[in-house]
Amino acid sequence: MELVLPDKKYKDSYLEALDDGFNAKYLGSQSPMDAEDIAEIKNDFEGFLTQQVLRPADLTPKQQADGKYYAGVPRVLYWLIDNGKFIGAFVLRTELNDFLKYIRGNVGYGISPQYRRKGYATQGLSLLIEKARRLGMQKLLIAAMEENIGSWKAIEKNGGVLENIITLPWENSGQRYKRYWIDID
Ligand SMILES: CC(C)(COP(=O)(O)OP(=O)(O)OC[C@H]1O[C@@H](n2cnc3c(N)ncnc32)[C@H](O)[C@@H]1OP(=O)(O)O)[C@@H](O)C(=O)NCCC(=O)NCCS
Repeated sequence: MELVLPDKKYKDSYLEALDDGFNAKYLGSQSPMDAEDIAEIKNDFEGFLTQQVLRPADLTPKQQADGKYYAGVPRVLYWLIDNGKFIGAFVLRTELNDFLKYIRGNVGYGISPQYRRKGYATQGLSLLIEKARRLGMQKLLIAAMEENIGSWKAIEKNGGVLENIITLPWENSGQRYKRYWIDID
């Protein structure tokens, strides 16, 4: 199993994952992508790879869910590959702005539905921590919804220490988010 930079040689299993409900647009989403978006990717897979997946991080300030503007941060997107097949994706943000410090943290991930509950998020996160270590990072902030048991269990199995549980003031769902730090040293 390995974490690699996205590559067109994984096209078939990547497209299969999209059909199966993997959300390439919002890695943390529980819902599949729209059929139209999937069709667009299928029509021009290499264009999608170049323009959306391998693109350099957009650092221009953008409005976030709290209504304020924050500059983008550098990030690397990896694909988790096992037996030559696409399993899921992990994003590593190597810096944090104030919004990310508050809620989204350094890491995001999603595993293709057919491969869930087989330990892939846990193992992929462990590989991502190694990537972060090699990049000189000392700690990672990761947040997960309290109801997303698979996500926070994977974090805890990788040494995540719970800092606090917060409710986002701009959401009225009452959903609670668990904020963890992983100490890389
Ligand atoms: C959350 C997610 C990444 C978990 O991936 P996964 O590969 O299934 O996780 P793992 O197999 O490593 O599971 C880790 C632990 O959580 C448990 N688990 C996983 N999914 C679970 C679920 N839906 N309900 C209860 N427990 C669950 C596993 O059994 C395992 O615990 P155990 O070792 O004690 O048995 C995956 O469900 C997913 O991609 N969801 C949609 C996107 C998302 O939520 N991303 C995370 C945003 S923070």
